[in-house]
Amino acid sequence: MEKTKVLFVCLGNICRSPTAEGALRQLVDEAGLAGRFEIDSAGTGSWHVGQAPDRHAQAACRRAGFDISGHRARQVRKDDFERFDLILACDAQNQRDLEHLAPASARGRIRLLRSFDPLAAGPRPEVPDPWGMGQDAFEETVAICKRACQGLLEALRAGQAV
Ligand code: 4NP
Repeated sequence: MEKTKVLFVCLGNICRSPTAEGALRQLVDEAGLAGRFEIDSAGTGSWHVGQAPDRHAQAACRRAGFDISGHRARQVRKDDFERFDLILACDAQNQRDLEHLAPASARGRIRLLRSFDPLAAGPRPEVPDPWGMGQDAFEETVAICKRACQGLLEALRAGQAV
């Protein structure tokens, strides 16, 4: 069976999107579905390419039971738009940037990650940027990403996301 390919995107690929990638990996592992998914993350910006995730993000993920320390930041590439079934933006600016980069044929596959979060409020819910903030902000990022990824997995399993 074809794998479902999911790409998470934020600005730097050192805080939010690697956290979301790790959260979804943990969920699919627990569900015994790891073989059915290809999961990755990338940033719209290039400043942090090659770097490990922010140490606060690593710590918050470790506390939540998953390890993102091996991730290295990369920038979104043109071929991501051909390769992934779903491209999930952490905030509205990430979504706009992706829509500018994407060929018209891929725009429908770009969504806001928090559109899958059952507790998100408002029409365009975002994962707030924790970069430069204290550890609490990163713990909140993990909580949001876990909820959104749980909602995403349920939608995928119900055939309602792709
Ligand atoms: P992220 O956080 O997009 O969640 O990885 C940020 C990381 C770096 C910067 C901004 C946000 N920056 O401006 O370098």
